[in-house]
Amino acid sequence: MEEKITVKDILELKGRRKITMLTAYDYPLASLVDKAGIDMILVGDSLANVVLGLDSTTKVGMAEMLHHAKAVTRAVKNALVVGDMPYESYQVNPEESVKNALRFIKEAGCDAVKLEWFDKCLEVTKKIIDEAGIPVMGHIGLTPQTADKLGGFKVQGKDADAAKRIIEQAQALEKLGCFAIVLECVPDKIALLITGKLKIPTIGIGAGPSCDGQVLVIHDLLGLFERYTPKFVKKYANLSPIISKAIEEYKEEVIQGKFPGPEHIFTIKKEELDKL
Ligand code: KIV
Repeated sequence: MEEKITVKDILELKGRRKITMLTAYDYPLASLVDKAGIDMILVGDSLANVVLGLDSTTKVGMAEMLHHAKAVTRAVKNALVVGDMPYESYQVNPEESVKNALRFIKEAGCDAVKLEWFDKCLEVTKKIIDEAGIPVMGHIGLTPQTADKLGGFKVQGKDADAAKRIIEQAQALEKLGCFAIVLECVPDKIALLITGKLKIPTIGIGAGPSCDGQVLVIHDLLGLFERYTPKFVKKYANLSPIISKAIEEYKEEVIQGKFPGPEHIFTIKKEELDKL
């Protein structure tokens, strides 16, 4: 059995090989992701969209995130598990933010937390790292929890001023002690610039191939989420029609009396039956 991946391992991978990361929200998929040897598993707040059928990641809270994070950590033996701090769990009050980050570690068994950039992000990130000693992954570029303030779900950093701000955010997060940063939906050349400037790894989603690692939402990769597919997604499988076909076959066999068959039945001896 391989050993549990640590934050130190992730830092050391920069420049040696690309880092792999996927989301997972439950025991069966987390188990498969872990067995495939993916380095990091993100219990993302994309849970809201791809599992809970909500229209915004701002609609999940600590209770849902912890519930799913616990299922994931029960399954994982090797990957580093990152808990995604949900909207309003770290924006409102710095003390509460530290408490919420600690819940991901102590109650759910995560190894680190991820915070999306917002205006007081640096103060909160510093508190979580320094006071609670929790490894923090930053998240800049398109930050879905505050997408309305960024003009919607759009590529970020497309002009020099906006790109400069994102580069400064990355450098500030590194200085505070973040161990990695997600770059979401930024031009590939900006991701290349940031990746070259930082000693910590960048993990891209819609940020091109120059990042130190890549992350995707597992339901997008598996073709299990049909509502919309962002341009940056590659579907490595298309499971929805396979699942639909299996369910339809089951339905037909039940209706036609073909399922359960003799191999699925429990029997009783005739002499016992005769006593009834
Ligand atoms: O919640 C999530 O899945 C994420 C990834 C898109 C990075 O934050």
